[in-house]
Amino acid sequence: MHMKQPAIITIDGPAGSGKSTLGELLARRLDYLYFDTGVMYRALTWAALEQRLDLNDVTLLEYTARSLHIEVTAPIYTDGRQYTVLVNGTDVTWLIRDPDVDRAVSRVSSYPGVRAELRRQQRIIGQQGQVVMVGRDIGTVVMPDAPLKIYLQASLETRAQRRLAQLRQRGSRLSLEQVCADIARRDALDQHVMQPATDAIVLCSDEFAPEEEVAYILALFDNL
Ligand code: DC
Repeated sequence: MHMKQPAIITIDGPAGSGKSTLGELLARRLDYLYFDTGVMYRALTWAALEQRLDLNDVTLLEYTARSLHIEVTAPIYTDGRQYTVLVNGTDVTWLIRDPDVDRAVSRVSSYPGVRAELRRQQRIIGQQGQVVMVGRDIGTVVMPDAPLKIYLQASLETRAQRRLAQLRQRGSRLSLEQVCADIARRDALDQHVMQPATDAIVLCSDEFAPEEEVAYILALFDNL
């Protein structure tokens, strides 16, 4: 038993740094909720593409962010998913991983009004506690008072290899070069929200297996 359990662990870092693997393992070990905040930006982007909205129309995207009902629940199928994402009741868990969403999501998530609304919704979930929250700005902006903050880094090469393996599993034929270029492009766009919190513990996942990271973080957690 952990005596003084911090209610929230935040894990931030760039695409492909291993946040979701680490977050899910930690949440399982602690019996906490695993909450990947990126799915909210992806769900909004999917809806905007589906409705053929003009991605330059900030007002419309802000309105859509406020009016969509995005839910993240436990997996409803055993098809390799970590959770189920519903948008107005439609299961979009796999649809939000589509390369079209990958391409557009940085733009949609760059608008301050959109971010303010999705952060508000994320806070409501975070404040319920017992949660591992994964994203870019969780330790800095969404949950700045979280007692344990991790910032996960990895080299571009490692991150591209991981993303490629995921995409291949889903039948994609993209090359390593294409995936590398896409990640580098997204890094540049996401840069403004990708700074480690001053009180974050920075880990480089090139050097560790996920289980080693989990053991290290659980040790920190026990000593809080
Ligand atoms: O982690 P991911 O690749 O699923 O994130 C999708 C996009 O959402 C990515 O372009 C960055 C953005 N994002 C964000 O701006 N803030 C977050 N807390 C999480 C994701």
